[in-house]
This record gives sequence, C-alpha cells and structure tokens, in this order.
Amino acid sequence: MSKKMWGGRFAKSTDLLTDDFNSSISFDQRLYKQDIQGSIAHAQMLGHQDIIPLNEAEIIVNTLKEILTDIEEGKIAFSVAMEDIHMNIEAILTDRIGEIGKKLHTGRSRNDQVATDMRLYVKEIAHESAILIRDLIQTLLNLAEAHTTTIMPGYTHLQRAQPITFAHHLMAYVEMFKRDIIRFQQVIEMANVLPLGSAAMATTTYPLDREMVAQALNFSQISLNSLDAVADRDFCIDFLEAASVLMMHLSRFSEEIILWCSSEFSFITLDDAFSTGSSIMPQKKNPDIAELVRGKTGRVYGDLMGLLTTMKGIPLAYNKDMQEDKEPVFEAFDTIKICVITFTKMIATIKVNHETMKKAAAGGFTNATDAADWLVKQGVAFRDAHEIIGKLVFYALEQNKSLDHLSLDEYQQISPVFNASIFTAIDLKTCVNQRNLTGGPAEEQVKKAISLNRSWLAQHCCE
Ligand code: ARG
Repeated sequence: MSKKMWGGRFAKSTDLLTDDFNSSISFDQRLYKQDIQGSIAHAQMLGHQDIIPLNEAEIIVNTLKEILTDIEEGKIAFSVAMEDIHMNIEAILTDRIGEIGKKLHTGRSRNDQVATDMRLYVKEIAHESAILIRDLIQTLLNLAEAHTTTIMPGYTHLQRAQPITFAHHLMAYVEMFKRDIIRFQQVIEMANVLPLGSAAMATTTYPLDREMVAQALNFSQISLNSLDAVADRDFCIDFLEAASVLMMHLSRFSEEIILWCSSEFSFITLDDAFSTGSSIMPQKKNPDIAELVRGKTGRVYGDLMGLLTTMKGIPLAYNKDMQEDKEPVFEAFDTIKICVITFTKMIATIKVNHETMKKAAAGGFTNATDAADWLVKQGVAFRDAHEIIGKLVFYALEQNKSLDHLSLDEYQQISPVFNASIFTAIDLKTCVNQRNLTGGPAEEQVKKAISLNRSWLAQHCCE
C-alpha cells in the first residue's frame, strides 16, 4: 500500500474499496495538462516571492515539463492509491526530485488547484466547441448560397404555410448556431476567473502574488472570495447549458433531416457515406446519424441536470460531491464534438431534390396569403380579402386544383375584383421575392444575411 500524502493523522491505511470509490484518477487524468500548467505558474510565483528558493522553483518547473512530455508519450502509469491527477503528478514529481518536490504544494490546496484546472479546461473546450460550430455554420452558409432560389414550402404546425427557399430555411439554423457560439464565448468569460490563492477555503498566510499567476495562466480576473472560489462550479453548469442548447438545435435540425429524407417528403437524399442500411429490409437507407444526434441530446441534458442536482445542496465551501463535476463535463464535450463534426459532414453531402420541394410548395395553397394581399392592394380590406380567398381555397379543394390552375372566370365568380394580374402575384417565385424585408426569404435578403453572417464569423469567431 503506497503511503498517502495526507496519511500523517491516520493510524490505519484505507480499505481498497475506499481507494477505488474515492479515486478520480480514472477520469480526471484528462486534466494532466491543465494541472501541470497550474503547478508551473504556482511554482514560478513561489520562487519569485521568495516563498521557496528560486533555484528550487526552477527545478520543479523543469521537472513538471518533463513529466508533461512523459505523460504525452504514454510513459506514465497513474495510480489509484494516489487518488487523483493532482496527487499523482505531485507524487511523480517528488519521486523524481525528492525533498524539493514536496515544496510545490506550499500555500495551495487541491481545492483551489482543481477549481483552477477545471476553469482552464472549460475555457479550452468552450473555445473548441465554438470553432466546431463555426465550421458547421460555414458549411450551412455554402449550402445556403447554392439554394437562394430553391423554392420549398415553409411550415407552421407541420402544415404547408408559405413558400420560402431552402436557403432561407437553412439560415434559420445559422442564427441558432450563431447564438450557440455566443453562448460558448460567454462560458469562457464566466470561467475566466483565477481561484488559485484561495487555498483550502480561506486563502493562506504566504505572500502569494495572485496577479502574477493569473497573468501566467491567462485568466482575466482573480476571484474575490475564497469560499466561493473553491465551491463554485457555475462555469461547468454554464458549459453544460450551452452544450444542451446546442444539442437542442442539432436535434430539431436532425428531426427535419429525418422527415425530409422520408419517402413522404423526399426533399433531400443523404449521401450513402452518411446513412446506414437494415439487416433485414434490403431496400432501407436510414438516417441513423440524424437519429443518433437527436438521441444523444438526452445524454447531454442528463449531464446538465445531474450536475445541477449535485450542486444544489452543498454547504460552503469545498465538499467531495464536487468531484462529480468532471464526468458530465467530459461526456457532454465528447458528445457535442462527435455530433457537430459528423452532422457537419452529413449536411455537406446531402442532395437537394429541387423539383419535389417545389411541387410541395405549389401543392399546399402556400400562395393563399399572397392572393389575399393582392386583393388588399386592390383596395379590399384584409379581413374581407381573407374571407374571399378562404372561399377560393374551398372551391379549389372541391375541384382538386391549386390556385394557379383555376381560370380567371372561376376567380371572378368568387369576386369581381380579380383580374389577370392575380396570376403573377401568386407565382411562387413572386411570393418569395416580394417578401423583401430584412429577415425575409427574398433572394436579395437571404444573400444579404449570408454575407452579414460571413463577416460576423470573421469578426467574432474564433481567434
Ligand atoms: N479530486 C478532487 C476533486 O476533483 C480534488 C479536490 C480534493 N480536495 C479535497 N479536499 N479532498 O474534487
């Protein structure tokens, strides 16, 4: 049994079950890089402040750098008895440089150490998440650019509503994913506070230079309350919340992909490389990727709810419950990463069935609002126009015809106001391009939105 770093006041060694249960090394080894970065900054500051001799600080820093390389080269086996990544690395350090290694933990606790590691880690993964979403947005912008005149029905209640373009529909998701980038950027801001120097919970008597450490680790602020600094995991919850909203967006999009590639819609065809078959039904081509993305959304929500629940009853300051912050954050990040990457590739390779989309837009009276608006422009009040077109639709349904297949005579039987120019007004292309307000589906507007979003990305994401 290896000797515990905190073994001094214990008469007995821990039960193996306690070691296993208590230990987090199996998962927190992911934080090795952040842990070493934090320790290097701490050691340099201890040397600079004359809390430990400068030359010893240098030995610690150099050895930590060697340990980092060794971990990256797979040369280190971590030990469960050493509990977590913090004590494992300190033990390796002390193994290598003896007494000097034992000075690293001066003026520090694992409580402010782990909070620092997690903040460094969350800042990194939030940044990486934003970059992955940027790539997805770029794919959507390219696809939208190719489809600014591809007419499709827009829906409300999953009933055909008004004609739009495929580009306009895609651009709705661009707006959602843009907000996701902003959300991850806000997570970085929330995580950007250095807890180190808070020690166990009440700071320390050594003259630490916290500003120096903050600068070395690239934190924009230092924490102002030592109890909060070691007990706060809001930034992890913020990350999980951003991840959950991102998954909600991906899941809605997946749902549409699944509908669109059904035989009933047939708006798109997935590339063979991004779909799967059935073990029994030879004809099947299934949208498994979209379904899995939709399914994995539950997992990420679970991570958020799990940590919220873990945190809700913890008295100040640090309690071991908080070790449970790591797995949900790791799992949520792994999940959003694989989902965004795979989803982006799937979207980049879809085939768009223009004709089917257009036929669907032509079929569902999606131009009825335009017909009513035409009447309004002839001086009819909107409510009356609505009534007249309602009757017209009722009549067309009886005849099993669309509005553009009725004759002018038939129109005039419903209202004498109609003349031949109604047919131009209800042409689907006109319907789309007449909606030329900012945010609308007109080709001009969508092109403008594409270009505005391209510049937004260039300016805001992601240095
Ligand atoms: N492995 C611990 C965690 O992740 C590190 C902090 C332990 N602190 C303590 N006082 N036991 O939370």
